[in-house]
Amino acid sequence: MKLLLKILGALVVLAAVVVGAGLAYFFLRYPNVPAAETVTVPKTPERVARGKYLAEHVTGCVVCHADRDWSVFSAPVVGGTAGKGGQRFGFGLEPFVLYAKNITPAGLGEWTDGEVIRAMTTGVGRDGTALFPLMPYPHFGKLAREDVEAIVAFLRTLPAVANPPEPARSLNFPLPLIVRTIPTAASHRPMPSPSDRVAYGEYVINAALCSDCHTPIDGQGAPLPGMDYAGGMVFTPNGSGLVRSANLTPDAGTGIGTWTEQQFVDKFRAFRGAPARRLEGAERDQQTEMPWTDYAGMTDDDLAAIYAYLRTQKPVVNRVEKFAGTP
Ligand code: HEC
Ligand code: HEC
Repeated sequence: MKLLLKILGALVVLAAVVVGAGLAYFFLRYPNVPAAETVTVPKTPERVARGKYLAEHVTGCVVCHADRDWSVFSAPVVGGTAGKGGQRFGFGLEPFVLYAKNITPAGLGEWTDGEVIRAMTTGVGRDGTALFPLMPYPHFGKLAREDVEAIVAFLRTLPAVANPPEPARSLNFPLPLIVRTIPTAASHRPMPSPSDRVAYGEYVINAALCSDCHTPIDGQGAPLPGMDYAGGMVFTPNGSGLVRSANLTPDAGTGIGTWTEQQFVDKFRAFRGAPARRLEGAERDQQTEMPWTDYAGMTDDDLAAIYAYLRTQKPVVNRVEKFAGTP
């Protein structure tokens, strides 16, 4: 009996050592990305202009890292808050909650360009924190290097907006472990020639994050197979109402198969410089999650390229009722 207890005791200690060593190995190994580079991005006016275009109208940096006015259709960015961070992302999954960070010089002032590039493209912050992939670093790791540098150059020109430090994020178990395994080295690629409309369209649609809302996911956050761009993801903009993303595949009955390129581009153009439409009464339940007002600043060529790429997708029959109904 004594011997049995001794053996059991030894096994418990052994198990604790194995688990401890495993965790130590895990925490040392992950996040597993290269160190931040020692680089200084040249801040030429052309780069800053390109970065401004991307950050404000394509890659969503300013949309997420700012305050948005949810009383207005498509919740445009509140003037003077670009990059200031603090926006809360809860998705009704509390205690899960994330806060966008201050990416103006008031927040990133001490960061080197290499550290900003590493956070943006691999998902590891200055202090080694693995960022949650709502921050779309898996997309940004696939941008052309010159676009990444352009965005960094632009961020450095944002007016510094001081903001109280964001509250700490809260990730439900086992997310604190999983999140450490997600950052990966960036895989930059050359920008495809805009004359290759489909390849260029794929580049733009990745940069513009359309799939994050238009490709439905399973409970683990993995894209549903065969449902690329088929829509139907449910959102409750700012915690009220209910909206589902549209089917963007070329299915004629339930997607955008009957839309011409012109109609597609015009749908975005309609928001260019349009006066803010304040939602009153029941209209508040017709709020959208899609930042139309910000995307409206995309060039016609970039929008047309997105359209060209979407035409190459498999048509999926998926009828989406955008508003009303229950999840
Ligand atoms: C969909 C919303 C979203 C978009 C789009 C987005 N971010 Fe983020 N970003 C976040 C969130 C949320 C965090 C915090 C993540 C966390 O705490 O795990 C974050 C964190 C960061 C950080 C780390 C800051 C720190 O103090 O740790 C940087 C840098 C950053 N984002 C830059 C960018 C840039 C540059 C872009 C555009 C190229 C961008 N973000 C686009 C939501 C977004
Ligand atoms: C933050 C989530 C989100 C992102 C990002 C997003 N969308 Fe949407 N989109 C929606 C939702 C929700 C709807 C349905 C409500 C509406 O029409 O605004 C929608 C509707 C649309 C529609 C209208 C289709 C119709 O049948 O009326 C088009 C076209 C569209 N999105 C294209 C895009 C493209 C292209 C991108 C990337 C540039 C994109 N979306 C990015 C959420 C998003």
